[in-house]
Amino acid sequence: MADSPAQFRGQARLPRFAAPLRYDLRLRPDLAACTFSGAAAVAVAVSAPTRFLVLNAAELDVGRASIRFQDLAPTDVTQFEEDEILVIGFDRELPIGEGVLAMDFTGTLNDQMRGFYRSKYVCNGESRNMAVTQFEAADARRCFPCWDEPAFKAKFKLTLEVPSDLVALSNMPVAKETVSGPIKTVFYEESPLMSTYLVAIVVGLFDYIESSTSEGTKVRVYTQVGKTNQGKFALDVGVKSLDLYKDYFATPYPLPKLDMIAIPDFAAGAMENYGLVTYRETALLYDELLSSASNKQQVAITVAHELAHQWFGNLVTMEWWTHLWLNEGFASWVSYLAVDSLFPEWNNWTQFLDETTSGLRLDALAESHPIEVEINHASEIDAIFDSISYDKGASVIRMLQSYLGAERFQKALASYIKKYAYSNAKTEDLWAVLEEESGEPVKDLMTTWTKQQGYPVIYAKLNGHDLELEQAQFLSDGSSGTGTWIVPITFCCGSYDAQKKFLLKEKTDKMHIKEFTASQSSDGDKNIWIKLNIDQTGFYRVKYDDELAAGLVNAIKAKKLSLMDKIGIVEDSYALSVARKQTLTSLLRLLNAYHDESDYTVCLSISKISVDATPDLNNDIKQLLINLLLPAAIKLGWDPKDGESHLDVMLRSLLLIALVRLGHNETINEGVRRFHIFFEDRKTSLLPPDTRKAAYLAVMRTVSTSNRSGYDALLKIYRETAEPQEKSRVLGSLSSSPDKDIVLEALNFMFTDEVRNQDSYYILGGISLEGREVAWTWLKTNWDHVLKTWRSSSLISDFINSIVSPFTSEEKAAEVSEFFACRIKPSFLRALKQSLERVRISARWIESIRSEPSLGEAVQELLQGAA
Ligand code: BES
Ligand code: ZN
Repeated sequence: MADSPAQFRGQARLPRFAAPLRYDLRLRPDLAACTFSGAAAVAVAVSAPTRFLVLNAAELDVGRASIRFQDLAPTDVTQFEEDEILVIGFDRELPIGEGVLAMDFTGTLNDQMRGFYRSKYVCNGESRNMAVTQFEAADARRCFPCWDEPAFKAKFKLTLEVPSDLVALSNMPVAKETVSGPIKTVFYEESPLMSTYLVAIVVGLFDYIESSTSEGTKVRVYTQVGKTNQGKFALDVGVKSLDLYKDYFATPYPLPKLDMIAIPDFAAGAMENYGLVTYRETALLYDELLSSASNKQQVAITVAHELAHQWFGNLVTMEWWTHLWLNEGFASWVSYLAVDSLFPEWNNWTQFLDETTSGLRLDALAESHPIEVEINHASEIDAIFDSISYDKGASVIRMLQSYLGAERFQKALASYIKKYAYSNAKTEDLWAVLEEESGEPVKDLMTTWTKQQGYPVIYAKLNGHDLELEQAQFLSDGSSGTGTWIVPITFCCGSYDAQKKFLLKEKTDKMHIKEFTASQSSDGDKNIWIKLNIDQTGFYRVKYDDELAAGLVNAIKAKKLSLMDKIGIVEDSYALSVARKQTLTSLLRLLNAYHDESDYTVCLSISKISVDATPDLNNDIKQLLINLLLPAAIKLGWDPKDGESHLDVMLRSLLLIALVRLGHNETINEGVRRFHIFFEDRKTSLLPPDTRKAAYLAVMRTVSTSNRSGYDALLKIYRETAEPQEKSRVLGSLSSSPDKDIVLEALNFMFTDEVRNQDSYYILGGISLEGREVAWTWLKTNWDHVLKTWRSSSLISDFINSIVSPFTSEEKAAEVSEFFACRIKPSFLRALKQSLERVRISARWIESIRSEPSLGEAVQELLQGAA
């Protein structure tokens, strides 16, 4: 065993005795046959005695006879499929120092949207294939044998042999091109040191537009032939973001060029490949006439996110996937910074709270995980591209920045980038730099947030002139975990001019606040309000005692609170109610204070409140929510107004969709009316892209098997449009009918070749409450097919999340876990456990709602109050 290839099996990581320095790669894709062949010559540094070279390879045919290390031929070559490694053994120890490993290989251009794959498109009426790569997290090994871990940085020199009439792109600019009949050979410049997961290739027919940064870096957006006008917005955001990050990180963009390109079949939203960023079409293309305001915002955020990675991720790379959040949390946070500076009127930091909310919701599950999570096998990596790495990651960065101050924080980040450029870093390396630059105990503070799952709820109460605080881990199931955190507490008292901050390090602490309360208005105690976690910069929740809670309700009514604080109060209250830490009655009374709310993000958080009580109470509670949202919706109407703000346009769409979902008849009828006009005349001004989704959903509320013309009309629109954003709006509506058979039909539509596999989640995301049972039966019946088709993509988790999570009973949870008992796979294990936990939490919440004594009365009272 000690000297056999098998010793390398079952390891989380490759052995370090040999490491790549430079890859010379030649690839020849055959787009018609969907295959490729390749040759690699890798300069390797051997640093310790070994008779083996161990690297990654998967789904590749490596030509054994072609393998040489210098002039040595191997004596044994073993490919371990499960471990995705290739072990090359020689009859003697390899000399310490540099040598070249050469080999030939072949593979398939697969249809799984990972590794080296084919995507389909139509050009001049003709169906065609393009060849594309998607290597993150661990799929470069499906394209060429390599040391496929982020810490094995090397230089890459690529050569592609492709049909002469096609565009062939890679990370670096073309150094030379030679044409020989139908095939051209494209030689690319050698890259700087980079990780394998960032290597990229795209081969197909495209047009481009070009611009350049203030430093002269050429930036291009590639689109399908004839569609470059849809790339202009992204190009503009791209150029400006590069300029902005160059200043923010005090480091120039590291490569000679940047290309961005839209790919018709794409598993994620976008991928930050060094110098060649790939996108889903909906995340890159913007069309003044065809896109909505929220499409526009999504494009801006996505471009800003991927370009941030060119520094945070590509130039400085995580040492191992445990530190994935350094990539994703940071890019998410900094994308808001960039977009806020490009579009200040979008109120981006308020919208950021939506990300924080997602993080808080996921991290309140026992089945959450720490930000820094152990990874033992490549198959575990995909599952951590989740709200913890992204949203919690971004939120704890915002928390730290706000604690240290923006300027100190930026300076430290710039030194971190300089120190680790072209190299790798771990989470604690970042803390060390921040600690050194700021003199604050960053490591101790942040470790409690990144190495420990969950977060605290702070119980706050006023005792005379003391504000007493106690922390306990918050869990949605109502239990208290054992964690404690170092919590940066901020609070203000009666006004935003009177702010205090300190670190809560123990389980309990108190602050004397006499100076504050004394400076309150002469109205005396009744106007006192204390808001903790000012502007929700901290990643925690707050539970106020009754007195403090009442003060806040008054402050909301008196319009004293910032938008972010209003959002935080609703969101905390909702979460506390789900966890049975406060009554639904008190949540509804609190909501009542928001009755003429007209801010986009505040309404967004109200619209996300969903309560499943008893059937008759459900309607009343829906009516209460309608009452809250309706005034703003009426004010905005269906028709856009000249010169109105981006946020009003988004708010209109949000409110109309929410009202349709809540079953508000007038809104549904108006949506249906406008839909009919639109269906006859697609150019009508009565249904622009921003309100179209609401109308589609309205139509689907009226569709049934005996009255299916609305469904068929939507399908017709789907078939007639070539626009991916429009297609996604239709797909997101099709399964929202209250009729089970129609839901089933929509789900089955997903399996036809009219729907790309990448788009399954739109249909899954739209399933009506009435359809959840039929969707579950459908999933069970079709599980083998679903698994086969989506097996290797993180999209498989969406099937479970969307279909299982909406259930609300113990019995259902038991039934689901029984079904999956013998079908579980690592790629969706976490999603399944989390979904089941959500089901059980809902079940317990509903039970407790049903025993709330005065709920019915309170609901009636609130309904009448608003009438
Ligand atoms: N690095 C990711 C893409 C990715 C995700 C690769 C999952 C492999 C597995 C990329 O930077 C990213 O985060 N994309 C986001 C978009 C962004 C705006 C949050 C996405 O794909 O949703
Ligand atoms: Zn990212």
